Amino acid sequence: MQQLVEISDLITAVDPHTGHRLPVQRAEVLRQLRESGDKRAARIVAGLPMDQDGVLDPYTVDRLLISVHTELQRLSEELRIGERMLHVLGPLFAAIRATAGQAGPYRLVDVGCGLGYLVRWLATTNALGPDVELVGVDLDATLVGEADRLAHAEGLDCRFVHGNAFDLPEAATVYVSTGVLHHFRGPALAEFFQAQAASPAHAFCHFDIAATRLAPVGAWVFHRARMRNPLGRHDGVVSALRAHSDETLLRAAAVPGIHALLYEPRGAVNPFCTTLRPIIGVRPQFEAPLRRALGRDARRIVGPEHLAEAAR
Ligand SMILES: C[S@@+](CC[C@H](N)C(=O)[O-])C[C@H]1O[C@@H](n2cnc3c(N)ncnc32)[C@H](O)[C@@H]1O
Repeated sequence: MQQLVEISDLITAVDPHTGHRLPVQRAEVLRQLRESGDKRAARIVAGLPMDQDGVLDPYTVDRLLISVHTELQRLSEELRIGERMLHVLGPLFAAIRATAGQAGPYRLVDVGCGLGYLVRWLATTNALGPDVELVGVDLDATLVGEADRLAHAEGLDCRFVHGNAFDLPEAATVYVSTGVLHHFRGPALAEFFQAQAASPAHAFCHFDIAATRLAPVGAWVFHRARMRNPLGRHDGVVSALRAHSDETLLRAAAVPGIHALLYEPRGAVNPFCTTLRPIIGVRPQFEAPLRRALGRDARRIVGPEHLAEAAR
């Protein structure tokens, strides 16, 4: 079967231990894309400049990724990612404040923050309150640098750190992410959740594309209409095709010490309206307070034991 890959995952590489950037051979990226049967992606990468040793020009790659992430920020604004995250995070922090037995400050860490749109939106709106410190982490040092530059330009109270989701550089009260989960395949998905469960964090809340049958078509229309960059358009559609199913997410997130809950599972909502929805993980003592803080919206969350019921 065809293993679709996102171009952005292939054109940069980082040593997982040191975090240092590694050279990427264009021919190697082309080989992988052709092997996956993705001729369009291979054509896009074949147009990228390389040096005399066949290494992709890092400056061009960085400019390209910043430009694609800038377009991605426009999508996030349109999809009201900040408001949607807040819809869950507001009640989650209320539950933590009421239950944790420990006063703030608390810390929210956005893993795979890219240009830091979510963290900067939360800082601009001060929506979570002054007792929540806002931090973004990303594997890509250039994106982290750009996120930091934007936050300074906007005079925001938040910070950005270069680091790996599997070796978390920042402790958090709550870990969040947007559009990141589908990048982790096979055992890496559960390892992503395990890294957070092994930390002192009280909860996580990760938004990603809902794997509905309409998601790839929706992603095509949306990225065609809103993105100019061929790489962004390509990766946008591939990410919808790679979206994890509700079952895969619930299984992977059910790591020791965490109760996994899915917000708006596939069977329970109109597929025309669902774009991104979160998988939430809470320490058991926070589940009942979270449900109380969510009020009527608590009906929208299901655990693994009720997933089949919700789909009926
Ligand atoms: C599709 S982008 C989403 C960016 C941002 N969250 C947004 O919604 O605009 C995925 C991001 O995850 C980052 N990423 C991928 N693997 C990572 C890892 N192991 N640790 C930290 N960040 C990672 C990438 O560098 C990229 O910025």
